[in-house]
Amino acid sequence: MPPGQAELIQRASDAHGLLCLLTDKVDRSVIEALPKLKVISNMAVGVDNIDIKVATEHRIPVGNTPDVLTDATADMTFALLMACARRIVEADHYVRAGKWKTWGPQLLLGADFSGATLGLIGFGRIGVAVAQRARGFNLKVIYYDPSAKPKHEAIPVGMEQILREADFISLHVPLTTETRHMITSDTLSKCKNTVILINTSRGGIIDQEALYDVLKNHRILAAALDVTEPEPLPANHPLLTLDNCLVTPHIASASQRTREKMALMAAQNLIAGLHGEKLPNCVNPEVYT
Ligand code: DGY
Repeated sequence: MPPGQAELIQRASDAHGLLCLLTDKVDRSVIEALPKLKVISNMAVGVDNIDIKVATEHRIPVGNTPDVLTDATADMTFALLMACARRIVEADHYVRAGKWKTWGPQLLLGADFSGATLGLIGFGRIGVAVAQRARGFNLKVIYYDPSAKPKHEAIPVGMEQILREADFISLHVPLTTETRHMITSDTLSKCKNTVILINTSRGGIIDQEALYDVLKNHRILAAALDVTEPEPLPANHPLLTLDNCLVTPHIASASQRTREKMALMAAQNLIAGLHGEKLPNCVNPEVYT
């Protein structure tokens, strides 16, 4: 189990550096209770578990692990999308439950891929890598990201157009105060009732109660969530009662090589910070000016 704030403060009271995981909440109370702290290194690209503003106020550089997990996360996004569209988990349960009696023309029909429209919300590194994979499946890709420079053959559009036109929607934005609960019941009500929603970014982007409601009432087709709020999602959570919701335990970057690279980058950031050198990957470089 990850340490709570009190344990973190107690165990790290003398620490000059903190190498933390996304499950460690490094907020003001922690940062200000560690007087010797010179560097915070997160073994993740997302840093929403750390109060960057407070770290910057105290001139503490914060490191993260971009790039190395882009491919693994994009692969998992596609795996979830295909699993949902072709009902892989449901089909496996069907076979194991002894329900497979014969081949049937209507048995476990899924969604078609070729020619469908994939809407990406967020078009940074991971969004672009998902778009590249989509090309091989003959999907049309549209994206909403006001800050992204045009790249790839994906088409920039407004949020409303994503909601209206996409057959599949995948979320690739960081969790910030602006993006928290950006997917609400209002957003979901504008989607096609055949849409499939994929989330490999952060659980807090979706209002989960709203998602449960639309999935239960079949106002959208299905969702696959690698990230939830909270994590872990309690085993008795209502979302886990639904056949059209697939949940995995935040494993999008969990491939052998990717995790080794993430660990190495996190160590390099930590060591640089301890030596008073610039972190190779720093999210708040303004601490150096
Ligand atoms: C990250 O690095 O932010 C990922 O969520 C870890 O898989």
